[in-house]
Amino acid sequence: MSQSISFASDNNSGAHPRIMEALARANAGHCVAYGADPWTKEARARFRRLFGDAAEAFFVFGGTGANVCGLSTLCRPWHGVVCAESAHINVDECGAPEHVGGFKLLTVPADQGKIAPEGVARRLHGFGFEHHSQPKVVSITQATELGAVYTPQEIRAIAEQAHAHGLYLHLDGARLSNAAEALDRSLRELTTDCGVDVLSFGGTKNGLMFGEAVVFLRPGLADEFKYLRKQNMQLASKMRFIAAQFSELLRDGLWLDNARQANAMARLLAHRVKGLPKVEVQGSVDTNAVFVRLPRAAAERLKQRYFFYTWDEEAPLYRWMTSFDTTAQDVEDFAQALEQALAAA
Ligand SMILES: Cc1ncc(COP(=O)(O)O)c(C=O)c1O
Repeated sequence: MSQSISFASDNNSGAHPRIMEALARANAGHCVAYGADPWTKEARARFRRLFGDAAEAFFVFGGTGANVCGLSTLCRPWHGVVCAESAHINVDECGAPEHVGGFKLLTVPADQGKIAPEGVARRLHGFGFEHHSQPKVVSITQATELGAVYTPQEIRAIAEQAHAHGLYLHLDGARLSNAAEALDRSLRELTTDCGVDVLSFGGTKNGLMFGEAVVFLRPGLADEFKYLRKQNMQLASKMRFIAAQFSELLRDGLWLDNARQANAMARLLAHRVKGLPKVEVQGSVDTNAVFVRLPRAAAERLKQRYFFYTWDEEAPLYRWMTSFDTTAQDVEDFAQALEQALAAA
């Protein structure tokens, strides 16, 4: 591929220049490994400032690891995790939650990746019955894999239902920053204040080179997490390099600026292509993903210039994603390439 900008995934962008500078600054001298360093202390304090005093953040290498470790803290092997059919933990983690975590996923049909108390209720049965997995966690994704967002009211309703049945609420926040920006709510308002117990907080998709965080919001849950993280091979020896990136991201709102740019470019892209013949933007474009239907032949032509994913092969549905560094010119170039592909197909 010759073009340097991709609309395939927010994982395709590089790292934000300020993150690179933070990495370079952290690359000074020696310090104690495995998190006993000043960078990790500072980054953990920044999480407390944004999520509340009880927040306990732990750094891990990737998002799948964050989800598996967070959920494993809450579950024994006979437990079940209620989640959307389309949840990343169900479809995009190669079975790691079930294989590594050992618990069962109890899926619920979802609209744009969102589940609601009515759907969750269908999985809340068999309590105390030794032949059934015991529901222990509800997991939601914010923003969802389909780019939609849960309002604080919607999250609170799921949390209340979960807690009333003795379940925890886990939130896969690989794109929590994008959701917070879209909803104009603080990170705390969308999590701690809504009753979320544990979350994965995404960094890589929002300008980091690598690294995610597992954040415990309910006191007591994190007590043995350090053992679990090590057993699950997510303990970074040179943790200062993950922590320094998070400190920079959270220091003065870089997380929000990056999410704002990515979200704005997705809206611009949707707006730009909406009127084109045979192009149908699906659902609302709440965050940095645009799902679109277009003729297969046009999509294949466009793919010769820009790589992107086919989300549904049968009735072809395609996903375009924007990143913190996508510009209006990138969007225009992509839209023009689409116009040419449509005309030629
Ligand atoms: C919703 C969601 N959760 C988690 C992840 C993290 O996955 P990875 O293990 O690739 O970092 C992703 C990445 O695509 C995602 O979209």
